[in-house]
Amino acid sequence: MPAPRTPERTRVAIVGGGPAGLLLSHLLHGSGVEHVLLEARTREEIEHTHRAGILEAGAVQALVDAGLDRVLRDGSRHDGIVLRFDGADHRIDLTGLTGRSVWLYPQTDVFVDLANRRAADGADGGAGSSGGSGNTGGTGGSGGDAGGRPDGEVRWGCAVTHVLDGDTDRPGVLWTDPEGDTHELRCDVLIGADGSHSTLRHTLPEAQRRTFVHEYPYAWFGVIVETPRSAPELVYTASEHGFALISQRTDTHQRLYFQCDPDEDPGRWSDDQIWAELQRRVAGPDGFRLVEGPVEERSVLRFRSSVVEPVRHGRMLLAGDAAHTVPPTGAKGLNLALADVVVLHDVLLTWLASGGRAGGAGRGGGAGRASAARAGGAGGAGGAGRGGRPDDAVLDEYGRRVAERVWRAQHFSAWMSGMLHSHPGETGFAARRRLAELRALTASESGRRYLAEGYTGWGPVLGERAP
Ligand code: PHB
Repeated sequence: MPAPRTPERTRVAIVGGGPAGLLLSHLLHGSGVEHVLLEARTREEIEHTHRAGILEAGAVQALVDAGLDRVLRDGSRHDGIVLRFDGADHRIDLTGLTGRSVWLYPQTDVFVDLANRRAADGADGGAGSSGGSGNTGGTGGSGGDAGGRPDGEVRWGCAVTHVLDGDTDRPGVLWTDPEGDTHELRCDVLIGADGSHSTLRHTLPEAQRRTFVHEYPYAWFGVIVETPRSAPELVYTASEHGFALISQRTDTHQRLYFQCDPDEDPGRWSDDQIWAELQRRVAGPDGFRLVEGPVEERSVLRFRSSVVEPVRHGRMLLAGDAAHTVPPTGAKGLNLALADVVVLHDVLLTWLASGGRAGGAGRGGGAGRASAARAGGAGGAGGAGRGGRPDDAVLDEYGRRVAERVWRAQHFSAWMSGMLHSHPGETGFAARRRLAELRALTASESGRRYLAEGYTGWGPVLGERAP
């Protein structure tokens, strides 16, 4: 490894440019907090990854509040979902039961909206910003503040290889640009938004970190097919042949999944075999059939539930999939990531204000400014703290405030998964008990409401609202 040059400095270093990292970058920009975001992949690579597509009402509100409202025009609002079992549909009227809806708006679109907005706000920095072009001077660790961009910068194609001094006041990272040159970035606080394989998470000291994990004996075979919609709403199907989910994308393309073995090789399935498997899972006396067409893409999605505690170590904090993962059944992963970031942004502003460094005047980050003002009023920014050392205890607020939602989502995702999938080798008793649960749940208004509350995201949960 070549010796890094003089370290570059910034206030907040964000590792990971998925929706969590980009939303944080966008919010910090709005609050005038200087930062650098490093993402190992190019924009194009991320744009071609298919991810789940359901946004809770609260996540939609967070995007709209942040000035990103394409979801309201191009997303499709769903007021209900269908649980299909015993070969018949059982509709859950989400809106009637909770007053809330969800939006079908794939993660890729959330990513594109955020990446476009950061680019429009001038954040696309040097290395790899358009898919691997060279480092344009100034961003590559030539010393001083981050490339002279007070609003923060997003760098694509820049991979973090090492975390430096993670347990000190001056954490940092070594990162390589697309040419393979190594640079050093130092910061006041380091955010790991680098996904389920997070580099940052692995640097947290083993002795002080607990990871709670649940593995599942099944996975999803996911396909994108070229057909019109087969149903107006999402259909979650439990059958004696296993689970299937009928989701949607556009008038011409749909997203379908069926339960499979985690080691299944998607390449060994012909289109005809895929359709036959899907059809037999949704079949019933009502004669429901899927509209068939060419299978354009296929992959196997493995399931894993995990939570890392605590989410802070010194001046390093984790957000989104780096901190927790959920199986896709409850469609909670992206929603949790966005909820984390809204709280994290608020806590970071309070923390910066506690050291007299609340950022600039702000550009529309209303909640952020309110938070900074709060901290000032409490004697932070306006008091002895000005220009001083921020109060790191403030950072613990983040973990405290997100924990309730994270664990509710863990429960909900594991519960939905367990209820709807057949377990390899499950006894006849277990299979009949699952069906009894589905029947009891859907027959009871309280049961349907319980599911609808979880699916639509509960609204603000304990601790999320600022005190
Ligand atoms: C999707 O459309 O990709 C999707 C929808 C709902 C889920 C999971 C995935 O629960």
